[in-house]
This record gives sequence, C-alpha cells and structure tokens, in this order.
Amino acid sequence: MVELQGKRCRLRSVVSSDVDTTLLWENDPALAPFSDPHEPYTREQIEVFIANQQAGLAANGQLRLMIELDGRAIGALDIFDYDGSSAEVGILIYEQQMRRKGYATEALNTFKAAARSFNIERLTAVINEDNEASRALFCRCGFTKDSNNKYICNMKRVVAPSILSADFGNLERDTQMLNRSAAEWVHVDVMDGVFVPNISFGFPVLKAVTKVSTKVIDTHLMICDPIRYVEQFAKAGSDYVTFHYEAAADIDACIDAIHNAGAKAGISIKPATEPEVLEQWLHKTDMVLVMSVEPGFGGQSFMPYSLDKVRRLKTMIERINPNCIIEIDGGISASNAAEVFGAGVDVVVAGSAVFCAESPEDEIVKILNA
Ligand code: DX5
Ligand code: ZN
Repeated sequence: MVELQGKRCRLRSVVSSDVDTTLLWENDPALAPFSDPHEPYTREQIEVFIANQQAGLAANGQLRLMIELDGRAIGALDIFDYDGSSAEVGILIYEQQMRRKGYATEALNTFKAAARSFNIERLTAVINEDNEASRALFCRCGFTKDSNNKYICNMKRVVAPSILSADFGNLERDTQMLNRSAAEWVHVDVMDGVFVPNISFGFPVLKAVTKVSTKVIDTHLMICDPIRYVEQFAKAGSDYVTFHYEAAADIDACIDAIHNAGAKAGISIKPATEPEVLEQWLHKTDMVLVMSVEPGFGGQSFMPYSLDKVRRLKTMIERINPNCIIEIDGGISASNAAEVFGAGVDVVVAGSAVFCAESPEDEIVKILNA
C-alpha cells in the first residue's frame, strides 16, 4: 500500500525517474536512491522515491515510472505532456523480462493505477502498428484506437469484477488473472443470509484475496447492522467498504468508523430506495453504490430504472461533493456498459459477465470500451 498525492493506492510497486535517469540523479541526489534500475528495490526505497517524485511530476510534466514485479525491475513507463488530466505514455519493457508471460500486461496495468492516482483521466499511446505484440498489449489493457490512429485509454471508467462469480476452488488463480487484467478494482460481496436471502463468505476469503490481489479491494457488505463489522472489514484490507443504507441505523457512525479505520466509505441503495435519501451524507461519502438488481445473487437481469437514479444522483453529487464516485452493481455486461457509463457511472461491477466469459480478460476490456 502506498500513498500518492495523499491518496491510498494499491500498487505492486512503482518507482520513477526522469527519462535521462542518471542525469537527473546527478543533478539532484535527493531523487537518486537507486544506481541501477535493474537492481531489485525494497518497498521502503520505492515509497521514498514516490514521495520525492511528486514534486518532479508537477514541475516538468514528465515522468518515468519504473515497474517492479516479484522483486525485479521489469520495465519503465514514461508520461509525457502531463497537464493535470491527460498524458501521453510510452512503455519500455526490459527485454530479458519480456519472456516472462504476462509481465508486460501487469506492468502497464500497474502504471494505469499509478496514472489514476495522479488524476490523469485520459492516456494516449502512440504505437508502432507493425509491432503486433505492442498493439495487442495496449488493447489488452483497455486502449482503443481513435480516428487519429492514436490509442486512447479513458481512465474515467473502472470495471470491478465480482469474485462472487469466481471459482472458489481456484480463487488464487482467478485473483491472479484479475491482477493481469485491465480491471482496476476487485468487488467482494459479503452476504449474511439475513439482509439478503443468501450467504457468501466473510473475513477468511477477503483476506485470501487481499493477500494475492494488487488491485483496489471494493468490499460490498450486504449485512444487517453493518456498524458491528465495518472497522474489521476495513482493517482486513478493503480500500472501500460499502454498507447498505437500508441496513444501517446510524449512517454517520458507519462512515466515521470506516474512515477512522483508513478506508473509503461507500453507501449502497437497493432498487426500491431513491438516491435523494442520501443527500445529507454525500459531503462525507466517497462512493454511492446503486444496486441495479435486488442484492443477493449474481446473474440477474439489469433494471433499467437504475439509470434514472444514477442521473439524479450525479446531479446531486456535482452540487454537493464532486469527489464522490458512483458505482453500479448487478446485471452489467458489455451490452449495457456504454449506456451505464454514459449515465454518469464511474465504476461498474460485473460478476457473471466476466467470470462466465470464455476469456474473462477480454470481457473486461469489452466492458471498458463498450
Ligand atoms: C449481487 C451482488 C453483485 C453480483 C453481481 O447481490 O452484489 O455484486 O455479484 O453479479 P452480476 O454481474 O452477475 O449481476
Ligand atoms: Zn456487490
């Protein structure tokens, strides 16, 4: 877990330097904790380096992010023309590591997570079309070609696959598949058999996922009286803890307990609950989760009325707290994702659409680019 610009950020690890690495380090020894980018770095070094580099990014608009996996530096990603919300990117993967399958994909997806924490909303990649491997890599990570033949990644869209639909006998395999994918979040559905007519799993499964996952952990509590457990779910590794408006006696207490435990707080509303009921808490809420099916089971059909609720919620959020994001959950697939993102949703949860697909990784990209 690292912090970039004051935001918690789950990155495997990222270090950065300017394009001319040695020159920059000679100029400013404070920015030079490493002498050889091929050397493995410790987490402490990485965190120090990120802290130092924030100033560098703001000052010159250029950044090289070094990506390390499994204790080895495997490549670098350059940001050019960073203007606060968009940037051009270049990727360099150290040749000897290219042979390790999946590394380039994971490196680029790690970079996207870092770019998001710098508030970059749109990435542009210039790709040599003759290099099929490079083109395929960027497409796998959610980039699509625009009319100017540039590859664009819209960072405002996030897919959160729900592990409720994963294969629990192979949870580590499925979590690692998500690590390699263009999904930046993992959605964790906790059900108590009382608030909803189904029981899913609790802390041991959440901990097993957080141990392996490099993504943002988005825990959705479908439980009665959530105040009893929100702190524990936050401390078990959730980046976001979302509880149900309908299940909580004291909404303020739940939000405060989640924040005090170091996580972001989300409030969810069932299909029959109107978003206006949340107005008085929006100023201190990080996310609103609009249920587009009755909570309890994966694989149900999307309720179109939820889009009307999203639009009304969006208007309220813009007025009260533009930092609050909107997530939607239930019945999302590549066939309705465009409409859903268009209505103002930031994060879509997708369970069966992803895990029942022949290629979950391709399906995630299809949803992102719908
Ligand atoms: C439903 C859960 C959802 C569910 C979504 O109660 O909250 O997260 O897993 O599954 P799909 O995408 O299959 O509707
Ligand atoms: Zn959910």
